[in-house]
Parts: sequence; C-alpha cells; structure tokens
Amino acid sequence: MALQKNYPKYTASVTQQHWCHGILQRRSTWGRKERKRMKMLGMVVAIGRVAMGSLGGNVQAEVTKAPFGTTTVGEHTGKQVDVYTLKDAALEVKVITLGARLMAVNAPDKNGKKADVVLGHPDLAGYEADRDTYFGAVVGRYGNRIAKGQFTIDGKQYDVPVNNNGQSLHGGLEGFDNRIWSAKQIPDGVEMTLVSPDGDQGYPGTLTAHVRYTLKGPDLRIDYSATTDKATVLNLTNHAYFNLAGEGNGTILDEKITINADRYTPVSSVLIPTGDLPSVAGTPFDFRTPHVIGERIEAENEQLKIAGGYDHNWVLNGPNGTMKMAAKVVDPKSGRTLTVSTTEPGVQFYTGNFIKDGAITGTGGQAYVRRGGFCLETQHYPDSPNHPAFPSTLLQPGQTMHSTTVFSFGVEK
Ligand code: BGC
Repeated sequence: MALQKNYPKYTASVTQQHWCHGILQRRSTWGRKERKRMKMLGMVVAIGRVAMGSLGGNVQAEVTKAPFGTTTVGEHTGKQVDVYTLKDAALEVKVITLGARLMAVNAPDKNGKKADVVLGHPDLAGYEADRDTYFGAVVGRYGNRIAKGQFTIDGKQYDVPVNNNGQSLHGGLEGFDNRIWSAKQIPDGVEMTLVSPDGDQGYPGTLTAHVRYTLKGPDLRIDYSATTDKATVLNLTNHAYFNLAGEGNGTILDEKITINADRYTPVSSVLIPTGDLPSVAGTPFDFRTPHVIGERIEAENEQLKIAGGYDHNWVLNGPNGTMKMAAKVVDPKSGRTLTVSTTEPGVQFYTGNFIKDGAITGTGGQAYVRRGGFCLETQHYPDSPNHPAFPSTLLQPGQTMHSTTVFSFGVEK
C-alpha cells in the first residue's frame, strides 16, 4: 500500500539507531522466562481472536449514520455533528464527528452480557462543555506535551499555545478534539478527515489528516494517515478511556494490565520527559507480567507522586512502524479483555487521575469517579520535537505519516 511505503521516512533514521540499541539492551534485561510468557500471551491473544473472529469476522460490519446534535459553542455554532454506528456479531461501536471521537464500544462479558466499556458523555452538550478529559478524541496535532510550547524545525522556532502548567498539551487550546471532522462511510467503518490550515495553533504547514475506524469481528482498528505542505511535527492518538467493567461502574483499579515494555520515559514535575529511558525492572512501572492496576499505584515512588498515579509513556518492545502488542487488560470480574496492538513506538498509560469524583455524568447516567477509566494512547513519545534521540515526529512535504492501532476485545472465563 502506498501509505505504508512512505512510512519509514516519517519514523526517521534516529528511530532505527535507537531501536538497534534497544534490542541489545532488551536481551540482557528481559529474561528468557518473561520472553516466553510474552510469546505465550501473544499466542493466547491470537487464538482468542480467531475464536471471536469466527463469530462475525468474515461478515462486513453494518455501518449507519445519524445526527448526534447541533453545536452551540464557538466557531462551529449551529453545525451538525453526526454519529456513526459500526456493528457486527461481536461489538457495537459509536464514533462522532466532533473530534473524531470514539464514543462507545458495547462488548460482551463472559456470560454474553453487553456493556459500554468506553467513557463518554450522553449528548453533544456534554462533549462541548468538557475541555479537560478528551474523552475518546483523536488528539492532535501533537498528542501529549511539548515543553513550554516550543520547538524548532530547520532552525526556525515555533510557539504553540501553552494550556497545561506552562506546557502545550494535546495540540493547544483548540486541538483536533474540538473540530468537526468530515466523514464518509467506508467498508466496515468510517473515514474522518480534517484539514488543519498552515499556522493552525502555531503549527506550520497545511496538514491533511485521515482517521479510519473499521470493525472486523472483535477488532476495532484505527488507521491514521497525514500529509503536509511544510515541514511540521505530528503525534496523533486516540484518547479513549476504557473501563472493562462498563463505564460508570467504579474505578479500574482491580483490572489487571500487562504492558509490553522494558523501559519508560520518566517525567519532570510538569510531566515533560527527562530524556532518560530507564528500565522498568524493580519499579511499579514493570508490567511485563500482569499486575492489578491498583496494586502499586500509591507506592512511595516519585514518578507516581508527580503524576498522581500512572500517566507515563512506555517504550514498547519491538520495532517502530511494525505491528506489535502494546498492552493487555483483563477485568477479572466480567472476564472482558482488551488487547492493544500498534505500529507506534510508545503508549501512554493514563489512569484517569485527573477525573474529578462526581463531576461528570457519563453516557449511561452514572457519575464518573477518579480513576474510573484508563487510557492506552498509542503514540510517539511526549515532547519528541525537543528530544533528538527519541523516534522522530517530523513530517516533511512529500511524505505520508501512517500509523495503525487495533483494540481487540475478548473474554476470559
Ligand atoms: C495526559 C494527562 C492529561 C490527560 C487529559 C493524558 O494523555 O497524559 O496528563 O491530564 O491526557 O485528559
């Protein structure tokens, strides 16, 4: 596919150097036992997928479109937002054109009982009023933080809005989460498109971004692609919060997570990576074997204190630009599982530390609590434009950025 052909240009040579180094290091720090366990996990996931796929994988998903509401705030006032529903035998998924947001995923538990496992607002007014959580949104142009909102391309300094403790978060004051994307139906899903003009939020170049959501059996796949007419930086991700017990059903602290990463990127007091890539070994950041999310979240650990829980980027094992497992979450009570695979080099595991208890009434009418959802934002590392040793987020005219993430839902009895 043409997009794929261009992708290595976007990942840049720095990435390859970094990863050669990473692989050498990984061999010595990650024991044979762990590697075997991760391989087994991959096999179990694959078998699970085949089993779920046979339920509905070969039949095309049904895709329908309906009006979701009319905006009442800002430059879009009076514009219609649509909701697309993607349905197959395994799942029902809802995506809205405001922020190209993943609004709902109805998934069965071990007894076949369906629940919506994605946090959301019941109506458009809820999304418009909430400028903090980024529920389900495609965030951009730059997902996560850029230090002091400053970076340099070809010797020229760019300033983008600082909206979080003096840093720029998720693309600035009017990020992609707050735009109405154009949408068209495609086989098994919907493609959303956004043209971000040159200078949008201070970022150079006219950027055309496409995000495709498709559903095949248990797999919700998100394909991102983008082109620019001037050199720019870019980090698109999806900011969905999941609660495998069902949205509005308490915290996610009892859910169990595995993250396929030997290293992570610790942060400063304003959540900007220090640039170090330490091993997770012997820390509460070691999820190479499954751990309950709440087990070590309150541990005496400076990084956990800074972020009020987990809110960090893990350096995924495996090459940048190639599909690999990022994480797996299991809810022991319902038996629901979520496996995330991606071509991205990192994943931000965020445990909803900033959700305020009771401040939001969610899709099903229940008040959300702090840590009522977790995000697994597949991404390039935060503040990459200011860390030449990180995989590059630079996109040049003539290149096409392409990235894929699959959220695969299953059950374990
Ligand atoms: C960030 C958090 C931030 C949250 C906003 C996450 O991606 O890592 O620090 O508070 O988004 O909802």
